[in-house]
Order: sequence, then C-alpha cells, then structure tokens
Amino acid sequence: MSSLPQLLRETLAATPSGRLPFAQVMDLALYHPEHGYYGAGPRKIGRKGDFFTSVSIGPLFGKLLAMRALQEWQALGEPADFTIIEQGAHDGQLAEDVLSALGGHPIRYLIVEPNPKYRAVQATRLGDQVQWVESLAALENGPKHGFFLCNELPDAFPIHLVRWNGERWEELFVETDGTEALRFIPGECSCTELSDEMKHLPWDLETGHTLEINLAMLTWIRALAQAAFRGAIFIADYGLDAEEFFADSRADGTIRRYHRHQMDGKVLTDLGECDLTTHINFTRLIDEAVRHGLAQREYDLQGRLLGRMAMSWIQSLEGSPPDAATMRQFNSLTHPALMGRSFRCLILEKSAR
Ligand SMILES: C[S@@+](CC[C@H](N)C(=O)[O-])C[C@H]1O[C@@H](n2cnc3c(N)ncnc32)[C@H](O)[C@@H]1O
Repeated sequence: MSSLPQLLRETLAATPSGRLPFAQVMDLALYHPEHGYYGAGPRKIGRKGDFFTSVSIGPLFGKLLAMRALQEWQALGEPADFTIIEQGAHDGQLAEDVLSALGGHPIRYLIVEPNPKYRAVQATRLGDQVQWVESLAALENGPKHGFFLCNELPDAFPIHLVRWNGERWEELFVETDGTEALRFIPGECSCTELSDEMKHLPWDLETGHTLEINLAMLTWIRALAQAAFRGAIFIADYGLDAEEFFADSRADGTIRRYHRHQMDGKVLTDLGECDLTTHINFTRLIDEAVRHGLAQREYDLQGRLLGRMAMSWIQSLEGSPPDAATMRQFNSLTHPALMGRSFRCLILEKSAR
C-alpha cells in the first residue's frame, strides 16, 4: 500500500491554509521519490501495466523515428555531432528501438533524465550507447545539431485545475473534508503566472466548467527553445486544439486517472497508485513555442503524420508486405479509432540560439 495519502494528509495539516494547489498534489502523487506513481522507478507500460503507449505496442514507432532522425541529419548536412535527444525515456524502450533501427549508425543518443533510479534502469538496458543529462538546462551547452523527441511527456506534467464560477475563473485547491477523504475547494489564484494564463481563457462557458492549465508545459517548451542545438523537435501526445479543449462536452476537463487499463475521473482516489494525466492544449503549446523562437513545421493527427513518415519505410519494402505483427503496430499507431486520432504529433523547427 502506498503511504502517499498519509503523507498528503500530513502535508495538508502542516500547511497554514490547510489546502494545497492541485498541481502540488499531482506533483507528489506522480513524482514523490518514494511514494509517487513515477517516483520510485519505471513501472510496466503495456499489457501488464496501467496503459499502452505508442512505444509499448512494438518497435515500429522507434523505427519511424529513427528514419526521420536520419532525414534530419542529412538535411543539416550530416554533422558529426548530430544527437538524438530524448526526454521521458522511461525504461529506455524507445531508445533501444531507435538505436536498433539505426543499426550501428554513429548518431549519438542523449537522454534527459532527472531521476537516478530511471537512469540506472536505462543504463542497464542501453549501456554505453547513450549519454545522460539531468535537465534541459544542460542542453544550453549541449550538442549543436540535434533531433529532440518525446512521447507522452507533457501529459504527465502536474497541472493546475481552474473552474469558471459564472463570473470569473477560480483555482481548485485540495483539502481534507474533516474525515480521511480529500476534496476540491475553489480559491484565489496561487501564483501570478496562473492568473496571467487565466486572462486568456474564454469567459462564455457554463458555470462549473473545469479545465487544466499546464504551466509546466510552458516552462518546458521555453527551456527547449533555449537549448543550443539546431534541428527539429518531435512531440507526440494525446491532445486537442484550443477549440476542442474548451468545448462544452469537456466541461469536466481532461484530467483522468489510469489503473490497469481502466480510466476514470476520480483523481483524488488512490493517489500514488494510479497514473494521472491530461490532454495537451496543442494550440497553447505551439503559441508559446513560436513566441520563443521555434517554428511550427508539421502538426497533425498522429495517424496522418506517422502515415506520411512511414512512406519511405513502405517504399523500402519494395512491394513485399511487412509481417503481421508490424502491420498490427502500424494499424494501432495510425487507425483513427485507436491511436491515430486522439494522439497528435508536432514537429518544430529549431534554429541555433
Ligand atoms: C506516460 S510516461 C511515457 C513513457 C514513454 N515515453 C512511453 O511513451 O512509453 C511519462 C514519462 O515521463 C517521465 N517524466 C515526467 N517528467 C519528466 C521530466 N521532467 N524529465 C524526464 N522525464 C520525465 C515520467 O517519469 C514517465 O517515465
């Protein structure tokens, strides 16, 4: 049993207001080094885990990214220091798939990994084929040419929850209800960055409309824009355009918890035992990226963008069909009813700073 709920009750009791911004609760629930869902080391993803990702369904996703990385390397004039940079590498599966598809090509591979327990697991799997840095800040002095990639990273960042009360947006905090249970309580904004974001939210939604503000995602994309490398940034995640994000049909927001392939909105229950995740507002992400010097190169449903990326792979097959397992992976990645529509891919162009 996780003792995260106990830790949270103690933290709440020690807080003068008796309440915490949801972002802080989510941060503890996911990243507390001992009791957080992700804190203690990489959990199984896939059939035996709580959810599937494009990585967990098989090596094709990594193969397509490897082929794209090679194209990016060629487009930059094949520089010797060209480096694939991955963040959110989890147990190293995607890195292994990409490196295996590269088949000994001397492209370097760097993982941005703040958690030493994850680094140890990745090192066991990947050995000296990769290098590590602890944070994006280290990329300020990093390689000069690169291809950054991440799958399902910003959806795992802690978010603030806000609710429209019919007159204004309020932040949702977490407190105990006097018994053991936790509940949400609205209040004034906990930080100016959040209140600045709130100014750009729509004011014509139904009372009670709740949504997420992913400040960590904005900090993250600004840090990426500061990195030294020139090249491209590939971001795959489930997400929405602003119009879809603010739709009446999403009045409960997009935050969900996942446990053993079951999903629901009981986000204060079994904290530390379940994954908590939100959809990315891609419109806001692209807006912040462009404001900080990155350029939108491609943005599309995963099915369409990976479909285009797969063209050179399909041509390389010269008419002979791939094996059944690979076809199943292609179908899972691209079919609109599977991962093709709910996931989006964004490719940003990054010039040198
Ligand atoms: C939903 S999982 C995705 C794992 C993997 N990329 C995949 O597609 O199977 C999110 C991962 O992001 C990692 N993560 C979250 N914040 C991170 C950060 N700031 N730097 C590096 N990894 C991070 C978590 O530890 C977790 O392994």
